[in-house]
Amino acid sequence: MEIKVDLFSDTGTRPSAEMREFMARAEVGDEQLGEDPSVNRLNQLVAELLGKEAAIYLPSGLMANQISFAVHCRPGDEIIMDQTAHPIHYEGGAVAVISGASINPLAGERGIFTAEQVREAIRTPDYHDPQTRVVSIEQTSNLGGGAVWPLETIKEICRVAKESRLSTHMDGARLLNAVAATGIPAREYAETFDSVWIDLSKGLGAPVGSVLAGSEQFIEQARYWKQRLGGAMRQAGIIAAGGIYALENNLERLSEDHHNARRFAEGIADLAQISLDPARVETNIVLFEVNSMNGEELADRLLSRGIRLSIMGENLLRAVTHLDISSNDIDFAVTVIRDLLEEK
Ligand SMILES: Cc1ncc(COP(=O)(O)O)c(C=O)c1O
Repeated sequence: MEIKVDLFSDTGTRPSAEMREFMARAEVGDEQLGEDPSVNRLNQLVAELLGKEAAIYLPSGLMANQISFAVHCRPGDEIIMDQTAHPIHYEGGAVAVISGASINPLAGERGIFTAEQVREAIRTPDYHDPQTRVVSIEQTSNLGGGAVWPLETIKEICRVAKESRLSTHMDGARLLNAVAATGIPAREYAETFDSVWIDLSKGLGAPVGSVLAGSEQFIEQARYWKQRLGGAMRQAGIIAAGGIYALENNLERLSEDHHNARRFAEGIADLAQISLDPARVETNIVLFEVNSMNGEELADRLLSRGIRLSIMGENLLRAVTHLDISSNDIDFAVTVIRDLLEEK
């Protein structure tokens, strides 16, 4: 089956011809020895972007989350995060395996919890309990439908966390989407976090990698974990160059993805079989419910007509826009969905 419009995920972006050319020309060295000039440059760019002392290139976002928790926690500690957060659902239970920590999941609203919830969740020291060690947030919230954490909420949460000497972590897989949506600089969002990372292989369009940033001391510890987990590479400058190219060329255009997501939502929101509020589409993710059939059936029928979406629950579907999706693709997808649902 030929996929004509792939709204499955922004992880599906492919490097453009220009990005590939830039990558092919990248200077390289031994990354594990700290001698790859392209990786070093990328790390420097991200450290500056996020206002941190240092940064480290990693093969994936998952590893960035896990290394951060491993540095912040000891086995038996507890991490506070939203109940929809990526490490709970999509990281193969790695928190239990790698840092030996447990998770205290909070019931946020579209992936976003409050400082008050954090205050209540922080445990008073008692040897019967795990010790609360980290508060982690996901900017933007994936299962929250791309919802953007307000800066004020973030700052309040970090203030509460610091009162109890907790570490603060931001899964910034789509932080730059939040930046594009609000105009608030990445370093402002990142300021109150001990660790923060961005993904290069989602909306930014690079083929591989994430970059984790923090203090010199934190990154030094992260380097031990990167080595331990087999994440240290050799001539990684080839792939890191994709990240440099992405940061230099693909940041501004993220707002086009947001525009397309809104266009998609507005195109189908009036259908009686769909529950969707376009005003809630803040970035590049559209979550919607189908009430005339189950989500899998609709996804299958759309796939047979060349539109791929992801199934997030029994009646819940997700469409994600990205740099390989044009406004014409969106119009095509909207037409196909309308035809399909209106024909009964
Ligand atoms: C919010 C969030 N965190 C972490 C990750 C993991 O990133 P990666 O696929 O680069 O490992 C993803 C990937 O989809 C994500 O959406």
